[in-house]
Amino acid sequence: MPAVGGVPAGGVGKAYPGNLTPFVTVTCIVAAMGGLIFGYDIGISGGVTSMNPFLLKFFPSVYRKKMADKSTNQYCQYDSQTLTMFTSSLYLAALLASLVASTVTRKFGRKLSMLFGGVLFFAGAILNGFAQKVWMLIVGRILLGFGIGFTNQSVPLYLSEMAPYKYRGALNIGFQLSITIGILVASVLNYFFAKIKGGWGWRLSLGGALVPALIITVGSLVLPDTPNSMIERGQRDEARAKLQRVRGIADVDEEFNDLVAASEASAQVEHPWRKLLERKYRPHLSMAILIPFFQQLTGINVIMFYAPVLFNTIGFGDDASLMSAVITGIVNVGATLVSIYGVDKWGRRFLFLEGGVQMLICQAVVAAAIGAKFGINGNPGELPKWYAIVVVVFICTYVAGFAWSWGPLGWLVPSEIFPLEIRSAAQSINVSVNMFFTFIVAQIFLTMLCHLKFGLFIFFAFFVLIMSIFVYFFLPETKGIPIEEMNQIWRNHWYWSRFVTDEEYRNGGNVQMGKTV
Ligand code: BGC
Repeated sequence: MPAVGGVPAGGVGKAYPGNLTPFVTVTCIVAAMGGLIFGYDIGISGGVTSMNPFLLKFFPSVYRKKMADKSTNQYCQYDSQTLTMFTSSLYLAALLASLVASTVTRKFGRKLSMLFGGVLFFAGAILNGFAQKVWMLIVGRILLGFGIGFTNQSVPLYLSEMAPYKYRGALNIGFQLSITIGILVASVLNYFFAKIKGGWGWRLSLGGALVPALIITVGSLVLPDTPNSMIERGQRDEARAKLQRVRGIADVDEEFNDLVAASEASAQVEHPWRKLLERKYRPHLSMAILIPFFQQLTGINVIMFYAPVLFNTIGFGDDASLMSAVITGIVNVGATLVSIYGVDKWGRRFLFLEGGVQMLICQAVVAAAIGAKFGINGNPGELPKWYAIVVVVFICTYVAGFAWSWGPLGWLVPSEIFPLEIRSAAQSINVSVNMFFTFIVAQIFLTMLCHLKFGLFIFFAFFVLIMSIFVYFFLPETKGIPIEEMNQIWRNHWYWSRFVTDEEYRNGGNVQMGKTV
């Protein structure tokens, strides 16, 4: 998923209007749909798991615990392995599918992966919407997960191959923006569907995934192949014509030649996975593992998946809990816009560090607030209004901190630091590590809340501290550096320079990055 590394401050905004051809516009819409699918899933599960009719039907023991005398330990009311499995099964499935999708995408083209993704997602939404038994729910979630694995792997790739070079940074975070919009739409729908008399609103919430599924399925059928994919499959003349149409100009020679060169260079690398283990790629491999790991260890998905459950646990009514999820959803979208605005002005490191400090403070305050009221035994007594407001304000400030730092940058930075010859393999690692830790956090959160209690927030705060120190010492600034020149950031770095020597730089520094992922 390549992105702009060298766009000068403000450059993206200035060149944006007027220059986008209809082809590229369609590309943006498809990318947005891919993000919506992912975001819709992230946002929907927390809401339905706090709806009583849903719990009563599928997870009656959780329902009974929730309904029991309020003096029982609030921290543990949602602790159920099957309930957790419902949320997290999707991410394990997505992890597996994204590995398979990388081969499908390479051999059969990006469109086919998108189509697979849409169809699987469609099937999962139907199964979930009509679910009668827990297994139908879980199998449905797994199908949705497979769908996401395919679309998340292929859509950003399609996007980056279609996008004009100078728009890549903005388009990259645009994908994250659509994830946040998907999350928001899901929470708003949950809020309204929960009110449906008869208690079947959860079916609409889950079945609503049909809409983005249909859009991506149809989209994948009508979209053109990327010129890059055509070159890879030997259709050079068609690819040149396509590129002329996409760019809206006749003279595409330079870019076309770069595409061909890039495609030839990447075809020569027989074992990208093995290559990734070479010493000179140590900084890249480290980032491909650590960035997604840290992104998930911010604890953001505790809020994204379980906001209503969490708010419910700390004393909000069911309705107020769903409303609070809508509020965090709005903050999430708004703060992502701030990131789009500032990423090429203030740089990645500034956003990472500022976001880190902000999250750390908020986590400490939330831990203290919950600890003070609920103590160790989880029995809050009467909760005053000001208390609820303080908790919501700090959780929102925490979400904003994430949404302009680790959220978008967790995807953007890896995409701009991998050289072409290892990009595909490194990106697969990035996606699967992300999915793996999303799964782990989803899987253990409710148990952790039950056992660690308010200490849960301290747990994630600890990781935020570690990752901020890591960024300070180990992550070089990538703002304003052309992708072809990216090797210099390692060569000039106090630590990473021991892996990327001057000689390596001369050999590898001028690799033409082209458009291949
Ligand atoms: C993360 C997701 C998270 C979302 C929240 C993404 O960057 O990968 O795990 O739920 O941001 O907006």
